[in-house]
Amino acid sequence: MEINKIYQGDCLELMKQLPNNSIDLVVTDPPYNIGKDFENDNLPKEEYLKWCWKWIKELNRVTDVGGAIYLTLGWQCVAEIKVLFDKIPDLRLKNWIIWYRQDGWKGDKGFAQSHEHILYFIKDNYLVKDLRKFGEHIKEKRIEAGYKTISELMGAMGLYKKIKRKDGSEDYFSGIGWFESGKKQPSLREIIRLNELLNLDEEYKLKGKKEEIKQFCEYIRSKRKGKKYSVQKIKSLIGMPNIYAKDDGRNIDGGYNYFETGFRLPTPEIYSNLKKVLELNDNFDRLIQSNYIKFNKIDVCDDVWLTPKSEKKRLGHPTQKPVKLFKRIITASSNKGDLVLDPFMGSGTTAVACKQLGRNFIGFEISNEYCKIANKRLEQSNLNEWSSH
Ligand SMILES: C[S@@+](CC[C@H](N)C(=O)[O-])C[C@H]1O[C@@H](n2cnc3c(N)ncnc32)[C@H](O)[C@@H]1O
Repeated sequence: MEINKIYQGDCLELMKQLPNNSIDLVVTDPPYNIGKDFENDNLPKEEYLKWCWKWIKELNRVTDVGGAIYLTLGWQCVAEIKVLFDKIPDLRLKNWIIWYRQDGWKGDKGFAQSHEHILYFIKDNYLVKDLRKFGEHIKEKRIEAGYKTISELMGAMGLYKKIKRKDGSEDYFSGIGWFESGKKQPSLREIIRLNELLNLDEEYKLKGKKEEIKQFCEYIRSKRKGKKYSVQKIKSLIGMPNIYAKDDGRNIDGGYNYFETGFRLPTPEIYSNLKKVLELNDNFDRLIQSNYIKFNKIDVCDDVWLTPKSEKKRLGHPTQKPVKLFKRIITASSNKGDLVLDPFMGSGTTAVACKQLGRNFIGFEISNEYCKIANKRLEQSNLNEWSSH
């Protein structure tokens, strides 16, 4: 399937043509089932939710590990759709954003309905099917590797904070219990770290991109150790202060350790410094460029968005979203050259936002009429068009 195109047809059929893990970011605005003038917007509730479940599963299949899914939803269906997403263990709800679109219509009773919901999921979970068996395996491997206590292993993993107990002693907090209890699902970064430390059985080894991240972690750690640099030293050499301020003034932890545990990949800028300082080869350039989990500078930093207002420049679609809204999402969660999918393209807002931001896209739209509007709009759009909205 060619990229940077909007295809006319049913997204349930068209998505089948997309390979697993081929999409970096999904930005979409599905029918809310509120009777608007398009398909799947006027179904009995049960039927609507069954239909949603089909495309939700597909979205998960095509989204890459480390990728994200954003959906705009109305208050009428957001709760039920969130519950459907909860059934997918790979996905984690990162934010539930409220967009105050400021054009609410006030009926004869109640308050004006002026907001919409944006659910933001990331695909970063790692699913273990038989937790009890996994727990037993971890215990065996921990002892084999010489970690006498769980606490010792948690310390070596370097992912957890210590907490003070009532009696004054300190220990790592393990939430609902350690893996050995057979109750806890590991996160992606935990499984990466466990694999590094415990030489887990084949079935728990990371495959594909996860494996590549793991190899990157091992590579930079061995190069740093080879040069006998401490973490502090490497941070100063690559220009990474202990605390660094984001452009919007917030401070975040510099977190070099995250690069060696796979919790976070370096930004392309930091990676290029790292390459020079550690004399790295080019093998991981593609990984960093394409897989870096992005949360870039954007114009708001919390989960209530007071701008932009509803789109005023209408193109003949009843639920056209502002380009500015989708540009914010795309800027926050993708890099230039990433592939963005919108299976419910409508008038083409996602495609225009992608074009303006240098992202690739694939879009589907079932209505011939809206598909034509979207394609015409895309042809006519240039980098500056709509950008003030
Ligand atoms: C809420 S609108 C999207 C509006 C869009 N965000 C915009 O700014 O113009 C949802 C769109 O999904 C389309 N749609 C409904 N069922 C579909 C399906 N099975 N496959 C593809 N598109 C579908 C509808 O025709 C409608 O245009």
